[in-house]
Amino acid sequence: MAAVDDAIARGYLPYNREAPVLRTRYAVKPFAEKHQHFRPYFPSRPGNVLDVGAGIGVDAQGFADLGHQVVAVEPADAMRAVAIEAHNHSAITWIDDHLPGLEKVKTRGDLFDFVLVSASFMHLSPDHQQSGMTSLGRLTMQGGHVCMTLRHGPVPDGRTMYEISDETAIRRADKAGFTCLVRERGQGLKRVPGVTWSSFVFEKR
Ligand SMILES: C[S@@+](CC[C@H](N)C(=O)[O-])C[C@H]1O[C@@H](n2cnc3c(N)ncnc32)[C@H](O)[C@@H]1O
Repeated sequence: MAAVDDAIARGYLPYNREAPVLRTRYAVKPFAEKHQHFRPYFPSRPGNVLDVGAGIGVDAQGFADLGHQVVAVEPADAMRAVAIEAHNHSAITWIDDHLPGLEKVKTRGDLFDFVLVSASFMHLSPDHQQSGMTSLGRLTMQGGHVCMTLRHGPVPDGRTMYEISDETAIRRADKAGFTCLVRERGQGLKRVPGVTWSSFVFEKR
């Protein structure tokens, strides 16, 4: 496999250093209390769910517990190791892959009913955002949903993130074959001063 572009790796490598701390921090909020905007779009029957940038696996485990087959993509080795140890559910397949290409996921040939992209897409530089969205379009079945959150505001020390306006996200999604059904802006769970979060539900046409 080709070497990972530095600009892409800068988005996820810092999470290797932070994994021991994030193991606790990301586990504070239980799945049942997360993603309220997205719940009406969760598959109503057991389906295929893709979690992109799955972190320590809280959401992957939540979807598996709801009866779905989950492909959880996490490119940071230390995060993936924590996730596999903490959330080793038989319905979760953990894959070392990354946006924008998601090449290993594409190779599997699956189409997904529901794709969660929670707090990961803003790690992509502008050069990679359209191809990232196009990959999500390739992997989502017609009528399926991509639910995405994007962080805005000061970038935490040591991380690499890019500002993506709501209009840009919606335009890129439209080009990839999605219609935006939900667009919300809020302060997020932690209410960090200066930080806001966008939430989108995109439906595949
Ligand atoms: C802020 S954490 C969010 C984790 C989890 N989705 C959540 O909401 O708790 C961002 C995650 O995105 C992953 N990530 C960063 N760049 C990525 C990329 N290019 N493709 C996929 N995941 C990426 C990081 O390794 C990290 O685990």
